[in-house]
Amino acid sequence: MTDRPILTTTAGAPVPDNQNTMTAGPRGGVMLQDYQLLEKLAHQNRERIPERVVHAKGWGAYGTLSITGDISRYTKAKCLQPGATTPMLARFSTVAGELGAADHERDVRGFALKFYTEEGNWDLVGNNTPVFFIRDPYKFPDFIHTQKRHPKTNMRSATAMWDFWSLSPESLHQVTILMSDRGLPVDPMHMNGYGSHTYSLWNDAGERFWVKFHFKTQQGHQHYTNARGEEIIGKTREGYQEALFGTIDRGEFPKWTVQVQIMTEAQAEATSFNPFDLTKVWPHGEFPVIEIGTMELNRNAENYFAEIEQAAFSPSNIIPGIGHSPDKVLQARVFSYADAHRYRLGTHYEHIPVNQPKCPVHHYHRDGSMNMYGGLATGNPDAYYEPNSVDGPVEQPSAKEPPLKIDGDMSRYNHRDGNDDYSQPRALFNMFDADQKGRLFSNIAAAMGGVPGVIVERQLAHFKMIHEDYEAGVRAALESQHGYKVDTISATPTAAE
Ligand code: NDP
Ligand code: HEM
Repeated sequence: MTDRPILTTTAGAPVPDNQNTMTAGPRGGVMLQDYQLLEKLAHQNRERIPERVVHAKGWGAYGTLSITGDISRYTKAKCLQPGATTPMLARFSTVAGELGAADHERDVRGFALKFYTEEGNWDLVGNNTPVFFIRDPYKFPDFIHTQKRHPKTNMRSATAMWDFWSLSPESLHQVTILMSDRGLPVDPMHMNGYGSHTYSLWNDAGERFWVKFHFKTQQGHQHYTNARGEEIIGKTREGYQEALFGTIDRGEFPKWTVQVQIMTEAQAEATSFNPFDLTKVWPHGEFPVIEIGTMELNRNAENYFAEIEQAAFSPSNIIPGIGHSPDKVLQARVFSYADAHRYRLGTHYEHIPVNQPKCPVHHYHRDGSMNMYGGLATGNPDAYYEPNSVDGPVEQPSAKEPPLKIDGDMSRYNHRDGNDDYSQPRALFNMFDADQKGRLFSNIAAAMGGVPGVIVERQLAHFKMIHEDYEAGVRAALESQHGYKVDTISATPTAAE
């Protein structure tokens, strides 16, 4: 006999035989009382949970945030003070593909971070891009519909994507990044991460500052062309998992330099662009980056499902000294994520170890399915309502963020009115060298195969507003890749495919 552990039922009783079903005679039938058989089959039927509605395919690891810079005059957050180190979890992802999608597809990459601070979990749920496709949260479900499968064909639809994008010029900045080299990073280590939204920092004196968070890869940027991506997918669909897991397993820990940009409330009144518009960056020349520390990933999960699939990130998770901003998309996300977790993981998703804060948790929510710890972790069974006279948990006024002056008439403001959707994509386009521009044109043309001419022309008109060369380059690539021609006689644009 070895000293191997004894196999048990989920109730802890030893299992006498895990090879042979209990039957009446050697030929069967099966005895209903063979509960271990029932339990094995029943558990197997419950091994899958809903995949994330977006960002389903992901790769994650644990690490540390180390603060070396001093931004204590902007924030009281303990995890952002000089010398602070905070354990954290990162999950990278593609947006559109399902759980079984190939890793090396052109897509925006999710860059979700959970910092287990002593003041509660702080989640920064960003992407590898500093901007996004939309600026009004009404558009998010529609946008995602265009990225997912067509309800009739059950295939992804280039027509739907470009129809939506061409009718939504605020997407131009993000579309340009997506179709540029950075739209297909070689792996999670060789790309930047961005908080993307404007958040806020606030200090003990009750002053608020607007902030952008950036995580700059120390491994350098590396990208694949579409052709190389296709070759890799032909060999492995799990290239990101292999790269991230492998590099940490070998002890080669990837690092990112953590930077912030800061804007005062007064400056925010005077910028030429809306600083809460998610389709815009803050130009570095006007708002220089301040280096504040390093993020390192140094530990793989022991169980992918328990720790990465069940990880629940939410922009609602902020801590004293860090706050949200009026960004409409951010405000909607404050609702959407915890709601998604309650559906995908269960009411008490924060009881799952990977999501548990590493500080004491005291609240008055009670009962509910999968409640592991009772409604209240006070050790006082009489304190199950509030206010009470039995020394139950009480609020902490110092955690209240400073007041924010808001004015204006309640209405539905057209988020496209007066917005310049072209200047920042132009600044990006002008940064690309001739080869980068060539790949941009070619990637866009490849993604437009089969799209009706009327949609193609609408999109080309937007590219022309960015730069004449942008439109001309994409048009030439459409011609060479798809034989695309504008029907000049009827003036009705047509597509050869
Ligand atoms: P800067 O010249 O100061 O900064 C340029 C930025 O562009 C750098 O952060 C660089 O990232 C990034 N960059 C370089 N190549 C690409 C690419 N192919 N795709 C996406 N980003 C790239 O200029 P500005 O701050 O005035 O911004 C000009 C344009 O740069 C913006 O309109 C925006 O499109 C883009 N950009 C700006 C950022 C910002 O926060 N200001 C952030 C990212 C992009 P890196 O440092 O990693 O090399
Ligand atoms: C995942 C909603 C915009 C980054 C998700 C999920 C939902 C969602 C429901 C799945 C959560 C889960 O099941 O665990 C929305 C809505 C948005 C929005 C409603 C806009 C109104 C954005 C933006 C970013 C972003 C702007 C980045 C700047 C992510 C990331 C994930 C994610 C990284 C994956 C998190 C993980 O790894 O678990 N989003 N999203 N989303 N979203 Fe968004």
